[in-house]
Amino acid sequence: MDILSPSILAADYAILGDQICQAKENGAKYLHIDVMDGAFVPSISIGFPVISSLRKSFDDIVFDVHLMIEEPIRYVERFAKSGADIITVHAEACSDIKQTLAAIRSQGVKAGISVKPGTPVEEIFPYLPMLDMVLVMTVEPGFGGQKLIPQTLDKVHALYTYLRSHSMSVDIEVDGGITVNTIKEAKKAGANVFVAGTAVFRGDIKTNMEALFEALK
Ligand code: DX5
Ligand code: ZN
Repeated sequence: MDILSPSILAADYAILGDQICQAKENGAKYLHIDVMDGAFVPSISIGFPVISSLRKSFDDIVFDVHLMIEEPIRYVERFAKSGADIITVHAEACSDIKQTLAAIRSQGVKAGISVKPGTPVEEIFPYLPMLDMVLVMTVEPGFGGQKLIPQTLDKVHALYTYLRSHSMSVDIEVDGGITVNTIKEAKKAGANVFVAGTAVFRGDIKTNMEALFEALK
């Protein structure tokens, strides 16, 4: 099943709750929440207080939390307690990937791992049995509104082919530069969870989401 995961990084934070309501009313089942620490990536975004406040108002949407932070194992428990349903960490940010994924699972939340455009996707193959989702970054993490790097879709396809040939069921998420034009290519490559920030929250949310769902048909 195809899932659209609107990224609130592109939302208007002064009216965040209202914008999430609109995304939900127009079919969002997931909400992508980007956490940036100013070290793993240059930007700083949001953290625990925002996530736990949102959780109180939105209990029926999957919180898809993308941690762009160094050594995320330090914070896994707090993100889980704040309300994350899926915690995705970067392979490049963990000194012990196995231990980090085990920490996520021990909190009873789903585990995801992400790779930056320059990291070969084969590096995460050994961890697939511990994963619910792989997030293949289609731009360099850190900023919204960038253009999708076409070569990253080859990695999506390589992962898709590997999963199929091993009869494994793991979601493939793409994040960065997903628009009405690129979403089709990403789906063709094998992705089934599509993060979109700018393409959802810039302009009219309803019109934007209808166009994205239409492109996925
Ligand atoms: C970038 C973030 C993305 C970002 C995508 O590092 O991980 O989730 O919000 O933004 P768009 O959809 O505008 O490329
Ligand atoms: Zn993200």
